[in-house]
Amino acid sequence: MTKVIALAGKGGTGKTTTSALLIKYLTHRKMTPVLAVDADANANLNELLDLNVQTTLGEIRKELKGDIPTGMTRDQYMEMKIHQALIEETGFDLLVMGQPDGPGCYCAANQYLAMTMDKLAENYAYIIVDNEAGMEHLSRMNLRSIDYLFIVSDPSARGIMTARRIADITEPLQLEIKKQYLLVNRTPDPIPSALQAKIDEAVAEADMELAGIISSSDDLIQQELNRASYLDLPDNSAVIEQVFAIFDALFAQAE
Ligand SMILES: Nc1ncnc2c1ncn2[C@@H]1O[C@H](COP(=O)(O)OP(=O)(O)OP(=O)(O)O)[C@@H](O)[C@H]1O
Ligand SMILES: [Mg+2]
Repeated sequence: MTKVIALAGKGGTGKTTTSALLIKYLTHRKMTPVLAVDADANANLNELLDLNVQTTLGEIRKELKGDIPTGMTRDQYMEMKIHQALIEETGFDLLVMGQPDGPGCYCAANQYLAMTMDKLAENYAYIIVDNEAGMEHLSRMNLRSIDYLFIVSDPSARGIMTARRIADITEPLQLEIKKQYLLVNRTPDPIPSALQAKIDEAVAEADMELAGIISSSDDLIQQELNRASYLDLPDNSAVIEQVFAIFDALFAQAE
């Protein structure tokens, strides 16, 4: 069964960073194949992986509204196009959603897209969906359920408060979320006790478990400055050891 992991959280908290680190984790642990979906209209997950994007699903959707080459059904054309948009790497594929159609558009192109995405999804052990800030985007995607929702927060009282609010508003979404986790990112080391208290309080009172805490990492900053892939971070770097320990515990408990 395919497991869907989605990232939520306010702007700049580290959703894309976490997505890239999850790809590294899942491929390293051979929990493959993985499909990474960049659902941010301003796509940038590919940059952290040092990959070039040729086409996005948004561009395909536009083409689908036009004429289909003769000798092909729309389904066949669609499937071919989606495969062209897939960036195939070792252990994972990356698919970039690109610009969304206007809100409330249920045009035929979207339905074809949803059907083809469903078929595609079956090929993977894990699907990671990197979102832009805000939850409305999640409900617009062609997902029926999310197995793990990671709500990423910055290390501030207001950040934790926002994460709690996100955890609370997921319920009315037309989307089943099986498990919600709080992930506090970019924390000072050691973590201030007042922040720890806020985290404990949030986890006790809101419907989310603490996945873990990721310290602020010079390795991540340096890797990004060098335009090098996060996948190439050494396994013994502090941040990699930290996130691998978080995901080891989480998946061991969850699976
Ligand atoms: N643990 C960390 N240590 C140091 N820098 C970090 C850490 N996590 C994220 N950053 C940096 O913070 C910035 C924002 O991170 P990222 O792009 O992952 O956030 P985001 O939630 O995806 O943002 P957006 O809402 O714009 O999509 C990036 O420059 C990233 O390198
Ligand atoms: Mg992002």
